[in-house]
Amino acid sequence: MSLNVVAKLLIVITSSYDIFSCYAQTLQIEGAWRADGKGLSIWDKFAHTALKISQDENGDIACDSYNKIAEDINSLKTLRVNHYRFSISWPRIMPDGTTRKINEAGLNYYHRLVDALLAANIKPQVTLYHWDLPQALQDVGGWENDTIVDRFRDYADVVFNSLGDKVKFWITINEPYNVAMVGHGYGSAAPGISFRPGTAPYIVAHNLIKAHAEAWHVYNDKYRAKHGGIVGITINSDWAEPRNPYKQEDADAALRVVQFQIGWFAHPVFNGDYSDLMKNIIRERSLAAGRPQSRLPEFTPAEVARIKGTHDYFGFNHYTTVLAYNMDYKNLEGAGTVADRTWLDSGSFWLKVTPMGFRKILNFIKEEYGDPPIYITENGVSERGPMNLNDVHRIHYYDNYINQALKAYLLDGVDIRGYAAWTLMDNLEWATGFDEKFGFFYVNRSDPSLPRIPKKSVWNYATIINCNGFIS
Ligand code: NOJ
Repeated sequence: MSLNVVAKLLIVITSSYDIFSCYAQTLQIEGAWRADGKGLSIWDKFAHTALKISQDENGDIACDSYNKIAEDINSLKTLRVNHYRFSISWPRIMPDGTTRKINEAGLNYYHRLVDALLAANIKPQVTLYHWDLPQALQDVGGWENDTIVDRFRDYADVVFNSLGDKVKFWITINEPYNVAMVGHGYGSAAPGISFRPGTAPYIVAHNLIKAHAEAWHVYNDKYRAKHGGIVGITINSDWAEPRNPYKQEDADAALRVVQFQIGWFAHPVFNGDYSDLMKNIIRERSLAAGRPQSRLPEFTPAEVARIKGTHDYFGFNHYTTVLAYNMDYKNLEGAGTVADRTWLDSGSFWLKVTPMGFRKILNFIKEEYGDPPIYITENGVSERGPMNLNDVHRIHYYDNYINQALKAYLLDGVDIRGYAAWTLMDNLEWATGFDEKFGFFYVNRSDPSLPRIPKKSVWNYATIINCNGFIS
């Protein structure tokens, strides 16, 4: 063991590296969908449209966290986390998405939550945009209309201004890939636009990147000196291995999968523009499909300069690994993905238990983006079915994934600053409703008081935190 590793080991065991957090998102837990002047979000509308969500569920009540701050803080204390990641509902604060009306009652809810967290010695990590766009903005084109960039900047300004003296960790946008592809490509998330006419995901992504950059600049120009916090974007990606490790074309496909998920957003934010790989392949395939030009919009030189460097850290959500193979057409990245049949299942079809990919993708980020400080902002596993408090599969998942993150940190020198588990309690898992359960706490939905009941993994995560990442 080199001296360097010994030194790092000591740091892990003895010092303040230990940012352990867990995350829960506004629509998935808050409920109170019309309370105190909240406006409608695109997810409220989507969920109230027949057949969009499993068993026609919705987030009207969810876990009622809007009215259960004390219960949620108790759960967090039981978990022993020292940070709590949550997101803010844009329409709760600005019902029509603009500064025309600021809903003080909505802001007050987040003040009460943050105050209670701080009183419990738990630091807030706040996400500004986790998919619940004000419906009023969707009515004028949503993320496809580039005026959204100014709207998002205004919203960020209002929130930084109001909560900035209490919150020091900000995430602008959660998983822009999913906003672009699932919301505007596959259509299985709000606003439910499916590949029509094939440019929407690229326009949406373009505006998301610009909106993120504007929010970062607002903080940098107006609030950083006063409040000294940090701001970044959270990007999600699977790790991809070649389906056939002896085939170069599968290795190339695996790289394209990761470049389309991470690079699409990280390359502009860290380097100022889309990567050549993205530009070339999308142009090639757009022209081959008979389009006059690439589906990928271009940033102007001024935009490149404005976007480049809008990060104080790399926020990263990760769950699983896929096997990639070359696919010659249609899907723009030109890659298909499958899972190895030996990988353990979860309650989500897309999530296989594959801890080894975690260390690899953390190393990929380190190499590709200049060794940035990384905050793991989501990682976790689901189950289906009736209440199962003996969730040993979750214990196995966290033990093994956190172990891989520690290897990346200690042995490979990846600059990991924090780790957030997904998620505090079972909640509305988007289009799959309440069927897929990712929580440490089971929520008994047949009891109107929605009690939070700890699963066995609660004690395991609390022990891992106590041992600063090591399994006791
Ligand atoms: C990604 C999202 O950020 C979160 O909202 C979702 O519930 C989890 N991953 C699990 O799918």
